[in-house]
Amino acid sequence: MTRKQQVSGSYWLQTEPGGTPRPTLTEDLTVDVAVIGGGMAGLSTAWELTRAGLGVAVLEADRIAAGVTGHTTAKVTALHTLIYDKLRRTRGDEGARLYARSQSEALERAAEIVAELGVDCDWEERDAYTYVRDTGRVDQLRAEARAAKEAGLPASFVTETGLPFPVAGAVRVSGQAQFHPRKYLLALAEDLQARGGRIHEYTRVTALTEGEPCRLTTDAGVRVTARDVVVATHYPVFDRALLFTRLSPRRELVVAGTIGADRDPGGMYITPEENTRSVRTAPYDDGHRLLVVTGEHFTPGTADTEARFEQLSDWASTHFPGVYLTHRWATQDNDPTDTVPMVGPLHAGARHAYVATGFGGWGVSGGIMAGRLLSAQIRGERCAWSELYDPRRLATAVREAPAFLMTQAKVARHFVGDRLRPAKSLEDVAPGEGAVVRAGGDRVAVYRDEDGEVHALSARCTHLGCLVDFNAAERSWDCPCHGSRFGIDGEILQGPALRPLKRRE
Ligand code: FES
Repeated sequence: MTRKQQVSGSYWLQTEPGGTPRPTLTEDLTVDVAVIGGGMAGLSTAWELTRAGLGVAVLEADRIAAGVTGHTTAKVTALHTLIYDKLRRTRGDEGARLYARSQSEALERAAEIVAELGVDCDWEERDAYTYVRDTGRVDQLRAEARAAKEAGLPASFVTETGLPFPVAGAVRVSGQAQFHPRKYLLALAEDLQARGGRIHEYTRVTALTEGEPCRLTTDAGVRVTARDVVVATHYPVFDRALLFTRLSPRRELVVAGTIGADRDPGGMYITPEENTRSVRTAPYDDGHRLLVVTGEHFTPGTADTEARFEQLSDWASTHFPGVYLTHRWATQDNDPTDTVPMVGPLHAGARHAYVATGFGGWGVSGGIMAGRLLSAQIRGERCAWSELYDPRRLATAVREAPAFLMTQAKVARHFVGDRLRPAKSLEDVAPGEGAVVRAGGDRVAVYRDEDGEVHALSARCTHLGCLVDFNAAERSWDCPCHGSRFGIDGEILQGPALRPLKRRE
């Protein structure tokens, strides 16, 4: 198989398709807790609450464990590239310690669940590394290793790794893990259902009225009544606190392929250099491992995705000679302006509505941590790291300000600047291509299929009106402002948008 024949789609989804869909909710329902979103954070929260004896329903707009979680690199680690030295400066030594403890506890919890439920999810213990090749950054790595160690992690600075190329230095945290994310989460879902929890797929929640109780409405007009509600939809689909203004969407590409088992670098690696490169392997067959390489991050709707895939594939082939690339896919996450995820009450006045978002690319340990934290909060228990992750935090507002302003300036630039960009004419859109064209004083998102038929949609994102852009590699319309994505039929692939793009003649 040549690289051009790589399967477009996540290896995790291909090897664990997930079976028959769980039933769409068609009748009104009353539960203790409704969890909106069936990814790592949503299912972990629902599972913890079900275990604690509460009646829980998970309401998922698509299939569970198929969104961000189905496309992750699935490292379960407390080493999040470079964070501890920064945390120490922004949230103090105690903040860094709590972050390390909460993420390590998530790793331990996942290991416990795997053992207790006997989950066959390719769980492997591995050391995690953040490395650099630029000698100019070694001091930064030394500082990170020191901060991570002082935060309580088994961290050290090293110059030797299992990578097949030299590094200038690396932070190593031992005893971390990796797994097959869908095998893990689908086992959790099965156990949740066996204990009376409910999961409804293809059930999109379109309205939330907070109160005692809270009331939800689905796109089919079905009502759900719940004492507590958790919004775990990646970008929060209900967002009175305007959290989206403190989140930046980041799309990242993944290529995967087989290498000889004797070439396994034997760890989980990431570098902030070269526009991020992350490397891990997974079991494949007797003589081979699956090499998974992630990188080339960019704001959705702003890059030539096909060219980026080429760059990432070239990097994988150059650094792991002989790799036989078989898969490629993309993933998306949100970076919070102050680096710390937002997990806790949905807004300042919220009494029964909670949110989990902004995992900044570390949604596996972050999602498991969120499950533990939200479950404790909903049950009225204290958790040492509630304040650290509290979405209402104001203490860091001043430190957040530069990143916040940059995020808003970027959005404003897209909102205004994209409208001034010269637009193609319809005749210039070749079969298999998409472009935003001008029509009747407005911008129209046009895709011409291989048969020449034109599919036209409004180019205004239904979230807040920025203009979408065509993503040729994934054949989707992506919004650069907050990362909503739509199919060529206009249907939502990724929020925060709640409505599809309008069809146009
Ligand atoms: Fe916010 Fe498109 S995602 S305007």
